[in-house]
Amino acid sequence: MAPRLWNNSYSIGVGSIDQQHMRLFELIDDIYAKIGKVDNAKLMAAVVGELVSYTEEHFTHEERMMRRCGYAGLAEHRLLHKGFVDKVADLRQRVDEGKLVLTFEVTSFLKSWLVEHIQKVDRQYLECFQRHGIK
Ligand code: FEO
Repeated sequence: MAPRLWNNSYSIGVGSIDQQHMRLFELIDDIYAKIGKVDNAKLMAAVVGELVSYTEEHFTHEERMMRRCGYAGLAEHRLLHKGFVDKVADLRQRVDEGKLVLTFEVTSFLKSWLVEHIQKVDRQYLECFQRHGIK
C-alpha cells in the first residue's frame, strides 16, 4: 500500500528511485503519526534515526546512478542532498538530546522539501537516465 502522503504525481518513472522515495514518505508518515504521543521523544528518536539512514542510502543510490550516466548536474545535486542530510541529522541530534520535540511544522518542512526536490530537482536527471537506458 502506498504511504498516506504519497501522490502518484511524485513518481518519476524509475522503479528503484520511486520505491525509495515511497519509503521516505512512509517514514515521514510515521513521524506525523507519532506527533503528540506520550513517549514522543523515544519514538521520534528511532524514526528520525531511520529517516537519516534511509535518506543517506537513497541519496547514495541516486548519485551512483547519476554518475553512471555522466549527469552534468551531479555536483550541484549532491550539494542539495548534503544540505538535507545535515538538516535531518541535526534534527535527530536535537531530538536525541531532548532539545527538540518534532511538531507538525517541522515534519511539514521535511515533507515539503522532499516533494519539491523530487518534482523540481530529481526530474532533471531523467533525460540523462533515459539516454542511458536506466529505468
Ligand atoms: Fe531522490 Fe535527489 O533525491
